Formats: sequence, structure tokens, C-alpha cells
Amino acid sequence: MKYGYFDNENREYVIERPDVPASWTNYLGVKDMCAVISHNAGGYLFYKSAQHHRITRFRPNGVPLDRPGHYVYLRDDETGDYWSVSWQPVAKDLKYFQCRHGLSYSKFSSTYGGIGAEQTLFIPVEDDVELWDVKIKNNSDRKRNLSIFSYCEFSFNEIEIDNQNHQMSLYCAGSNYGDGIIEYDLFYVPGAYHYFASNFEPDSFDCLRDKFIGNYRTETNPAAVELGQCGGSSELGGNHCGSLHKRIILEPGEETRIVYMLGEGNRDCGRIIKQKYSNIENVDKAFTELKKYWDRKLKILQVHTPNEGMDTMLNTWNLYQAETNVVWSRFASFIEVGGRTGLGYRDTAQDVMCIPHSNPAKCRQRIIELLRGQVNMGYGLHLFDPDWFDPEKKNKPKIKSPTIVPEPDLSNMIHGLKDTCSDDALWLVPAICEYIKETGEAVLLDERVTFADGGEATVYEHMKRILDFSAQQVGATGICKGLRADWNDCLNLGGGESAMVSFLHYWALQAFLEAARFAGRQEDVQKYGTMADKVRNSCEKELWDGQWYIRGITAKGDKIGTKESREGKVHLESNAWAVVSGVAGKERALSCMDAVDEYLYSDFGIHLNSPSFTQPDDDIGFITRVYRGIKENGAIFSHPNPWAWVAECKLGRGDRAMKFYNALLPYNQNDMIEIREAEPYSYCQFIMGRDHTAHGRARHPWLTGSAGWAYFAATRYMLGIRLTFDGMVIDPCIPESWEGFQADRSWRGAEYRISVRNPGRVQKGIKYIKLNGRLIEDAIPPQPEGTVNMVEVIMG
Ligand code: IFM
Repeated sequence: MKYGYFDNENREYVIERPDVPASWTNYLGVKDMCAVISHNAGGYLFYKSAQHHRITRFRPNGVPLDRPGHYVYLRDDETGDYWSVSWQPVAKDLKYFQCRHGLSYSKFSSTYGGIGAEQTLFIPVEDDVELWDVKIKNNSDRKRNLSIFSYCEFSFNEIEIDNQNHQMSLYCAGSNYGDGIIEYDLFYVPGAYHYFASNFEPDSFDCLRDKFIGNYRTETNPAAVELGQCGGSSELGGNHCGSLHKRIILEPGEETRIVYMLGEGNRDCGRIIKQKYSNIENVDKAFTELKKYWDRKLKILQVHTPNEGMDTMLNTWNLYQAETNVVWSRFASFIEVGGRTGLGYRDTAQDVMCIPHSNPAKCRQRIIELLRGQVNMGYGLHLFDPDWFDPEKKNKPKIKSPTIVPEPDLSNMIHGLKDTCSDDALWLVPAICEYIKETGEAVLLDERVTFADGGEATVYEHMKRILDFSAQQVGATGICKGLRADWNDCLNLGGGESAMVSFLHYWALQAFLEAARFAGRQEDVQKYGTMADKVRNSCEKELWDGQWYIRGITAKGDKIGTKESREGKVHLESNAWAVVSGVAGKERALSCMDAVDEYLYSDFGIHLNSPSFTQPDDDIGFITRVYRGIKENGAIFSHPNPWAWVAECKLGRGDRAMKFYNALLPYNQNDMIEIREAEPYSYCQFIMGRDHTAHGRARHPWLTGSAGWAYFAATRYMLGIRLTFDGMVIDPCIPESWEGFQADRSWRGAEYRISVRNPGRVQKGIKYIKLNGRLIEDAIPPQPEGTVNMVEVIMG
């Protein structure tokens, strides 16, 4: 069953049925302000942090779905009938409905009672305000008297206070109205305000939620809308909202345009914004700028392959999702509604590794933040707020958006080894390398960056400490300790050992060795080359089980993931990483990936492990306490799926890689929403596994490492376009049936029009590469800025 379609020309996903089985969300905002908005205009807005600077409220985990939101009500003032443009919250039987989720905007269109309406929500690149651009047209043949009402519910900045300590939000925040602008005043936090304005002189207003909605009512039937008039409420203390009401008269065929503005700051900020965006030209200009912002990013890599779903995802949605993770980290969605702030070490490091081409500035910022969150001993702080360690931000008064969060006691922030995740910082080594390969900024290696627990060192030295830490934190067999967790949060091995981390260590070492060679640091090439050999030997000696690699060893010495295991017999992470890292020899590599196919593959993607665990076992960890087939316990966990695509590409099996790719591809599930439920334009964190009754149901969209990794694996390994420190390698691994593909890539100021042909119908292998008609022996060296270069690749 379908609920919508991909409109590739406009880079939009179009939802035609509003009653989708789960909230289908979008992210608005590309700099400091962000709104998470559903297909029904439900959702919330925040400034910089969903935890500390919430602007509007959202009731997560609630019934009805997606409440409240950023709503526009229309009312026929002759009959008293009313509806909402976005279907919800009134949920009238609309004659027509469409929600277009685009890149950083969402557009809701509907027709009811002869009135066409459109509400576009977006946040201009340059201003911290969410604009609600509303168009209303009288499609009937008679003059219409209408009313338009806005509605959003203000939130106290601090999510904990807003949701738990109601006394504070009820009695320490107030609202007032003046000059057509509603101001929400967080009295408790001197200087903190939100505002709500419009491009008209309101006929009435309400600042108090309870007055607008009325007792024993909901957003579905607000008293003020029913009455056709707001009550002019405002108060010091209470629950507050932004409702501005305007009466309009429309002749047949006449159209009008109204703009609402929801922003961070006080009435003075509101006044400036009101003046600017009351000029409709500025609204249109801001929208065009936003479109251009995304066009510029997406243009850096566009592909044209025989796989339409792959093109749609790589050219638009996959990159968009990966960008969202880098910019907004992982703490704002309908699932993560702001309970935490800051960066997850491993997640951000991986996100950054995948898209340095489209957002080098943000990736660089994140790399420095992560390095500052590393301690001298080498590990990274698992979760931290980068502001804690930013010398500029630490002591700077936050004038625009004051906070009541006390200055952190940094000594308390350094968790010890017990809370360290054994994989966290390892991801950063390849991420730094990818950034330098993309930008050519090799001097970054010599930049000095502080450690979280004092002192500083060059980026290069930071990388060495990461690798040294993993070399030291090994168990009895020489395999890295699992510590609090490895990539799998629910595998809690403590002093037990993690196969995955040793493979990861080897992979990070390879990345570092390439950097050390490039930087001419011979001593380190020697030293870390020896370290890598040792890691590889331990892995091959300790982790092979005859047909596949085990997942780890508990502190008691029991092996996890062996042929004798009844539960958790085969695991994706260790087997994929044995190959991705380069540890596994050819024979073992083929065998373990065959086991992945045999034991873990399904039509919805590859299971993380199988069979699921049924008995709690604290030697293994929390994974054994999750229901079978859900999340880390035997679900199709999306994030590690691309690792298997990379592994298959390393083995030259393009058909198998594409089979795996297609199974997970959200696009391919567009017409089975009755099973998938979640949005088909976003990878989800997990899909219920075959040990669960809801096999195939996807959950937790957007904020997942699968976004970056799917992009990385598909572009760098399947299409094979990847970078070295001084060249571009093209080494695709594609299905035999493909005649070839095209890709346009910009890199360091030059353009490359890549045409790959596959006359011999091979899955991997290059006969020759020509750059501008000349044979190239090795990687393509960077070409002069401003040039357009033709790259001809013949496989065979
Ligand atoms: O690797 C983690 C990630 O850091 C958060 N989400 C779950 C993943 C697997 O446990």
C-alpha cells in the first residue's frame, strides 16, 4: 500500500493520504534553528539545543499522534465550519490533501468547502525564525468571509522543566501582546524570550493556551476557533501559545497570502523580523536561497545509474538525511525529543566521515569538537556537550538566548574507563583522514587541540593516542576489551573482549598508516605497521570459528556467536568488519560473508544477529533483555547493513552487494507501507526482525548511522568513487547486468564527469581509465580549479 510518491524533479516526497501509519517527519533549518515537523504539521521548534532552548512544545509518545504542532485553522465565518490546512488537528474530510516534504521545508495543501489553502513551513538560511507562508484562495463562485487563526504552544527553554517541573513553567514564564506581536517571557531566565508575529494587524489574539483551546477541549476543537474570535488573553504564569487571528474577505477566484513568524528572541527581535518578512518578496527570496543552499550541496555528487531507487536516494534523500545527522546530531526527533544534548562520540565521528564533501565546514567543526572531547589516555567521552570544551563559548555570555544551565564542572565530565565505550574514538581516525582527502587540508594534522582533561597536542598526536589506547585495552587473548559497550550499545562485555573493536582497531590503523605515509612519518609507519600486524594475528588466531567469526568473549571466557551457540549464533558486525577492515584472508572472508547471507539476510535487510536472544544474560549485556527481533536483539539494524555492502564490494561481488542494498533501500518499500509504516524517504534505525510478529516494520527514522554509512558505502564502494590523500580512485563493484553508470563529482574546485562502461558485464575490475582522453595508470590527480574533466572508465 502506498501513501505517496517521490517527486524527483522538485526533490520532494509527496504524501497524498494524511493518515499514514506513523508520523512521517521532516527537518527544517540548516544553521541554528530547527523544527521537526510531521506530515500533519505536528512537531516542535528549538534553537541550537532541543534540550536547553525549546521554543515550542510537543507531547511525545502521545495519542493522538503528533500534538501539538504549528497549525493554521481556517473558519467559514458565515457557517462557523472550520478546518486545518494540514488535515490535523481538526481532521475534517478534506476534498484534497497533500504534504510535500522538501529539503528543509514542508508544504501542506488542502481544499475544503471551496477554499484552497497552502501552508509552507521553513526557516531561512540567514534568520532564526520559522516562517509559515500561508496562501488562501477562494475557488468557489461566491464571496467568502473567512477567519484564519495560527496556533503553536510555547515551551519553557529547558525540556526537563517544561515536562516535569510544571511549577517552574507555570509560574515563572508569562506572555504579553503588543504591536501585533506575542512575546513569551521566560521570566526565570532573565533575557530569554520567544515571539510570534505576522504580516498583518490581528483582529484578535490569544497568548494563553487554555483560553484558546478551552477546558475539556483539544487542538481539534479550540474554543476560540469555534467562536470565531480569540479572547485577547495573556498572563504572567500559565501555559502559553501563539494565536493571531485575522478576518479576510475573498471574492471568487481571489487569493491572499499571510505570513506568520515564530522566532527566538524578544519583541524587538520580532519587530525586525516582522518588518523584514511582511515584505513578501523577502519571503520568496529566503525560500529561493534555501533551495539554492541544497542545490549547491547536492550538485557535488550526482549519479545516474540503472537503479532508480539508488539515484533517488543518493541524489537527494540519503545525503539530506546524512547532513541532518551531522548538523543536528542525534537528539531531536519524535523519539529523541530533547532529553539530551551534544554529541555522541561514535555517532558523530561516523556521520562526519561520510559527508565531508557536502559540509566540510561543519565536519571540520565536529572533528575539532570530538578531539576536544578526547582525554589524554586516548578514549573519547561517550556523550558530551561540545560547548563545555570550547574556549570561546565557555565564558561568553549568551545574550540572544540565555540559559539557566549552570557552568559545567569539567572534572566531573570525564568519565573513567568503566564508562568508556571501546569503539568511540577509533571512528575519528578515518573521519579525520576522509576530511583531509576531501579538502586537501593536510595542515590539520599539525593543528594543536586541547584534551578534555587538560593539555593539548597536535591532531596527529591525538590520532596516535586513540590507536595506543586500543592497543593497551586488550584482554587475555590480545583482543580489545568490550568495556561499557562497543558499537553495539547493548553488548556490555566489560573486561570481556570484542571482536568488532579489534577489527575496527585494525581498520583505523590502516587509515592512519596511509596518513603517516602521506605525511612522510616513517617512524610511525614502522611502529603502527607492527601494531597492525599484531592485531591482525590476534584476530585470525582467536576469532575464527570455522565458518564465520565470533562476536566476542565474555569476561568469564565464553565465546559469543559460535556454531554451538543456540542464540546469537551469527553476528553481522564482526563478520562484516573482519572483511571491511582487511583482516580476513580471502577464503575466510568469502565464507563469513556467505554465512551473513545464509543466516542473516531477509527481504527487508540483514539482521544484526540471529537467532535472537531469549534469556537475560548479563555477561553478554542488555541485548539479551530486549524483546526478540527488536533493536539490537535480532532486528534488521540498519546502520551495520552498509558494512556488509562494503565487505561484498571488497570481495568483488557486486550482485550480492546490490541485493543487500536493495533490501534495505527505503525507496523500495514505498508500496508496502502497511508493513514498513515509517517514511520511505528515510533510513530507519531498525526494522523488526523475523523473530518478531511485526517483521518488516521500520522504526526510528532520520537519526541513525545508516544515513551516513549507506551514502558512504554506496558511493565509495558500490559506485567506487573514493579519494586518497592526493587522488581520486574509481573502482566500482556493480551488478553484472549493469551496462555502466554516470556520475558528476566536484572535488577541490574541479569537476569530473565520470562515465563508467561495463561492456564485459563484470562485477568488478578496471580495464582502463582515461582522463580527458589520456590513459591514467593510478589515481586521478586533482585537476586545476575551475576545470571540467572527462573521465572514461572501462570495466573488464
Ligand atoms: O552504535 C549505537 C549508536 O551509538 C546509538 N544507537 C544504537 C547503535 C547500536 O547500539
